[in-house]
Amino acid sequence: MIMNILVTGANGQLGNEMRILAKNIEDHFVFTDVVDASEESIVMLKKLAGEDVNTETEHLDITQLDAIRDVVNREQIEAIVNCAAYTNVDAAEDNYAMAELLNTKAVENLAWAMRETNGLLIHISTDYVFGDDPYNTPCKEDQKGTPTGVYGLTKLRGEEAIQRVACKHVIIRTAWLYSEFGKNFVKTMLNLTATKPQLKVVFDQVGTPTYAGDLAQTITTILADYKRESLSMNDGSFTKNGVYHFSNEGVCSWFDFTKMIAEYAGYKTCDIQPCHSDEYPSKVKRPSYSVLDKTKIKEEMGVKIPFWTDSLNICIDSILKKK
Ligand SMILES: NC(=O)c1ccc[n+]([C@@H]2O[C@H](COP(=O)([O-])OP(=O)(O)OC[C@H]3O[C@@H](n4cnc5c(N)ncnc54)[C@H](OP(=O)(O)O)[C@@H]3O)[C@@H](O)[C@H]2O)c1
Repeated sequence: MIMNILVTGANGQLGNEMRILAKNIEDHFVFTDVVDASEESIVMLKKLAGEDVNTETEHLDITQLDAIRDVVNREQIEAIVNCAAYTNVDAAEDNYAMAELLNTKAVENLAWAMRETNGLLIHISTDYVFGDDPYNTPCKEDQKGTPTGVYGLTKLRGEEAIQRVACKHVIIRTAWLYSEFGKNFVKTMLNLTATKPQLKVVFDQVGTPTYAGDLAQTITTILADYKRESLSMNDGSFTKNGVYHFSNEGVCSWFDFTKMIAEYAGYKTCDIQPCHSDEYPSKVKRPSYSVLDKTKIKEEMGVKIPFWTDSLNICIDSILKKK
């Protein structure tokens, strides 16, 4: 059986990693976004996945419920992987309406589209749904959300919208996402540590980085699991609905993260020093501790999670490799 899968936000970091893995999966993927794939992303996609990787993008704005319904009905979509979001944490503070539209209302639209057709919504949320309460043990899925800013709050509301609509769903909270694609912390720090003599990076915000390639791998495992289950269950039900946490293994600060980025890149000239968050005044208070406990996803989905430095090394190799 071929399953029809819709990927939204397909030209972002995670969406592009989905394109790479989709190449070796027999299911039919429809990649959608509001922007076309950039030239830079297409070059990187072909470098990582070969010339025949799917670089096409169908225009789909997930704030438009009727447009979602059209694609779902035309392509007989059975599962949606939502990689679209308003991800600019600082800008969200001044753009509540936009952040809410994309991170809450549009997510509700996707949930309705899957509820109406009994499909599965795999939605990505964030560790920033936590952080306002001081704690120092890894956050569990059922822990109360305590977002520190608009981004985290609107993402938490998006999760609640899915649960209210009650379509079949898997919500994966992830953290500190980076990849070979788009703009992210790893690429910024590769640039800064190669060119600056000195750099200060905060050491009082602790979490775990996530290589988007590893998250995409986990999503494909869940899709395969869902396909197996929906083939064997006649009533179309799904037993693994719920919220899950996924990041790489381990714990670090942004300072530790930067040190490893420079080390793997072989950049030795930049003096990287730790500093406190208050040395970088920002519109939004970021969580000081948002490590995710991943016990549930490992036990229930059977996924193996690489240690953060191992995945970082792989991604930096891909970024810096010329051919
Ligand atoms: N990045 C992180 O550090 C991080 C951490 C934790 C969780 N997450 C979550 O992980 C998921 C994937 O993040 P990412 O970093 O891969 O995101 P990303 O790179 O920002 O990609 C999101 C994509 O969605 C597109 N988009 C924007 N508005 C849209 C709309 N109305 N309809 C359809 N697509 C739209 C964006 O286009 P434009 O570029 O034009 O906006 C972009 O191509 C998100 O849910 C995010 O909240 C991210």
